[in-house]
Amino acid sequence: MTTLADRFQAAADALAADGWYVFEGMLPAAATADLARECAAMLAAQQMNPARIGVGQAAPALRGDHTRWFDMDAPSAAQRPFVDAIEILRQSLNRSLMLGLAESEAHYAVYPPGARYARHLDQLRGRDARVVSAVYYLNADWAPEDGGALRLYLDDGRSHDVLPRAGTLALFLSDRFEHEVLPGARERMSIACWMRRREPGTLP
Ligand code: OGA
Ligand code: MN
Repeated sequence: MTTLADRFQAAADALAADGWYVFEGMLPAAATADLARECAAMLAAQQMNPARIGVGQAAPALRGDHTRWFDMDAPSAAQRPFVDAIEILRQSLNRSLMLGLAESEAHYAVYPPGARYARHLDQLRGRDARVVSAVYYLNADWAPEDGGALRLYLDDGRSHDVLPRAGTLALFLSDRFEHEVLPGARERMSIACWMRRREPGTLP
């Protein structure tokens, strides 16, 4: 039987070689649907906040999503399979890449139709502890004409678009690839996650 840890090995190898990888079918469809349902319910209950850029203000023209952070130490029942999978991935990456990833953080994000996130880097001015970015998508039946792709700007001037389809996990090194979220025709739900190295000066 192929375990998730076995499948993550391919992701770790690709990250080592290219710095990015798109992993399909991370969680069973029912688990992804549970996450989508919880995310939609939190939005409806006004439990999500306009995202900010860095430590600054909300700037909806540049970044139009609403977010809500996970409590990684006390995930909800819907969040548990995601948090467990990310923990397995973190350990796989540490084993094969020796990245020293100490912890993960994650938030739900909802982009209304037409919202975008302008081209950016996830690591702020090289002083950020984020090492690996992992974005998991929750949208059933997403078609190319729905737009809303994650556009990754690769090293060689090319770009690669990832559709935000339920079950897809986009992985990339946080300090290496600028990327943007293109506007979509539908509401777009995801979990943005970062694996972090220990902050300098903190005890193990
Ligand atoms: C982010 C981000 C990409 C996506 O939240 O920093 O780039 O596809 N998200 O949602
Ligand atoms: Mn980003």
